[in-house]
Amino acid sequence: SRIAVLASGRGSNLQAIVDAIAAGSLHAEVVAVLSDKPDASALAKVPPERRWAQSPKAYVDRAAFDAALGDALAGFAPDWVVCAGYMRILGEAFVQRFSGRLINIHPSLLPLYKGLHTHARALEAGDAEAGASVHFVVPELDAGTVLAQARVPVLPGDTDEALAQRVLVVEHPLLIASLQWLVAGRVAEREGRLEVDGNPL
Ligand code: GRF
Repeated sequence: SRIAVLASGRGSNLQAIVDAIAAGSLHAEVVAVLSDKPDASALAKVPPERRWAQSPKAYVDRAAFDAALGDALAGFAPDWVVCAGYMRILGEAFVQRFSGRLINIHPSLLPLYKGLHTHARALEAGDAEAGASVHFVVPELDAGTVLAQARVPVLPGDTDEALAQRVLVVEHPLLIASLQWLVAGRVAEREGRLEVDGNPL
């Protein structure tokens, strides 16, 4: 399978994908990394011909940026598109164009804490557990069908950073497991519902 990754920053989730492929546990290839941040460290994890990065400031509006991103992405002919720390909202036209093969990893137990500052919000709420979710992307932010989740405990004295780090550790295997199932064709989304081995959940 051909995997393209959208990333805005560090790229530890992308690194986990690269490592799983190298270890032979994920039968895929990272065909492209695309970013809205030309200086994102994630970009350095693939060779230059597999990179695309543009600042949205170079475009008149969101639709124009999304169209350029979408055209570049389509040029890499991905089977799967993974948002991994991609911090820019994707417009409806873009989401429709890649619908069914577009997933995101979000650092909360969805449907809790869509959007930003998930760890601070979990701590503020006094939650006993936090975690991460992999979900299919729909136009509404962080609202698509959840494919898989991983949980960690919230510990006494936790800070945002400590909790974020504990969640990140489980994000990596969660994303790899999700991709293994997608690539193997074991899980798919049809009409907003998850199917496993062809059976609706
Ligand atoms: C992860 O916590 C991801 O869930 C969130 O942004 C972070 C990205 O980390 N959306 P990285 O760039 O993959 O290291």
